[in-house]
Amino acid sequence: MDLFEYQARDIFEKHGVPVLGGVVATTPDEARAGAEELIGGGPDGVVVVKAQVKTGGRGKAGGVKLAHSPAEAQEKAAEILGMDIKGHTVHRVMIAQGAKIAEEFYFSVLLDRSNRNYLAMCSVEGGVEIEQLAVERPDALAKVAVDPIVGIDEAKAFEIVETAGFAEDLKAPVASVIRSLWTVFTEEDATLVEVNPLVRTEDGQIVALDGKVTLDENASEVRHPEHAELEDKEAADPLEAKAKANGLNYVKLDGEVGIIGNGAGLVMSTLDVVAYAGEAHGGVKPANFLDIGGGANAKVMANGLDVILNDPQVKAVFVNVFGGITACDEVANGIVGALEILGAEATKPLVVRLDGNNVALGRQILADAAHPLVTLAETMDGGADKAAELAHAAATA
Ligand SMILES: Nc1ncnc2c1ncn2[C@@H]1O[C@H](COP(=O)(O)OP(=O)(O)O)[C@@H](O)[C@H]1O
Ligand SMILES: [Mg+2]
Repeated sequence: MDLFEYQARDIFEKHGVPVLGGVVATTPDEARAGAEELIGGGPDGVVVVKAQVKTGGRGKAGGVKLAHSPAEAQEKAAEILGMDIKGHTVHRVMIAQGAKIAEEFYFSVLLDRSNRNYLAMCSVEGGVEIEQLAVERPDALAKVAVDPIVGIDEAKAFEIVETAGFAEDLKAPVASVIRSLWTVFTEEDATLVEVNPLVRTEDGQIVALDGKVTLDENASEVRHPEHAELEDKEAADPLEAKAKANGLNYVKLDGEVGIIGNGAGLVMSTLDVVAYAGEAHGGVKPANFLDIGGGANAKVMANGLDVILNDPQVKAVFVNVFGGITACDEVANGIVGALEILGAEATKPLVVRLDGNNVALGRQILADAAHPLVTLAETMDGGADKAAELAHAAATA
């Protein structure tokens, strides 16, 4: 999960990374009030109005503007709110204290999957041109591997600032901020912490003026229940949100064949066979991953079907269930019950393949119900082929 800058700022503050005051606003009036709070009517108070969108390059896009009074902050907020930055609409701004910047640096630490390691990157030439720097003069961007067992201890922090070429008097203060950022990375279970720019102010402070943090969602549920609050509920895919609320493991994909199965492995291989079968039927593809897990009763099945049938891209559904502890007759009753619960909302053809525990009874239940939308398949490949065929037919109808 990527965080907004204002959320990263709060987390930085919590772990002792030096940041400036910041207040979030969703309207120009709130922006004015926020600026008043920060400037306090002081004579040389400067604030920065910053678009809160989950993409970089806000400065270049006109989403970061200076204001010298609360009234000006209100004006700038009115300009920035509603702006489109690389496809992201600005719904919030942060009013931040203005810094008198003497120098801009760059620091990041991230999970380096290919090297099974962490990687720190640092440069004395930070700021809005960092991407260009990385391409044109990669030597100016220090890359230092970080052993996950050791982390960024004092020696590693000094190695980073030495490699980046910081001036002698800056090494200790920058190394200290880097160690606090490493605390953020480990304590919050992040996979990325990036600060660009990390600045030296005219009065000699090292401050994080921007922050980009990606949290590892695998750690959220158990280790960080408090991270749930950081989720951007407005931006979440409504189907994924609904599935999550019902405790389903659902991932939306880009195809036409809805998939329901039990067990992650079976669902994964169902995606494969449907993608393969789709090649013979106009190139249709799986529309989702949905694992209903062990308890495939009517309620769970109805919730799953409800999510999938509400995806407008879905043209047909393949239900592929292997009866184990939940036997096939229960699954079949689940499907029949789900179709009753959904009633007229169920409008798309369903191909059902059952196998395993109590399969004969399960198939009998579905045959007896004789629902007009349901086709029974004997095998997984046959079911995938039928579902792909029906999806293609519906898509081209
Ligand atoms: N609080 C601040 N005070 C003064 N200047 C700032 C402040 N925040 C950002 N800036 C300036 O604006 C530039 C862009 O802001 P930043 O937060 O890095 O957004 P982005 O990386 O999306 O362009 C920074 O490089 C810095 O020069
Ligand atoms: Mg930046």
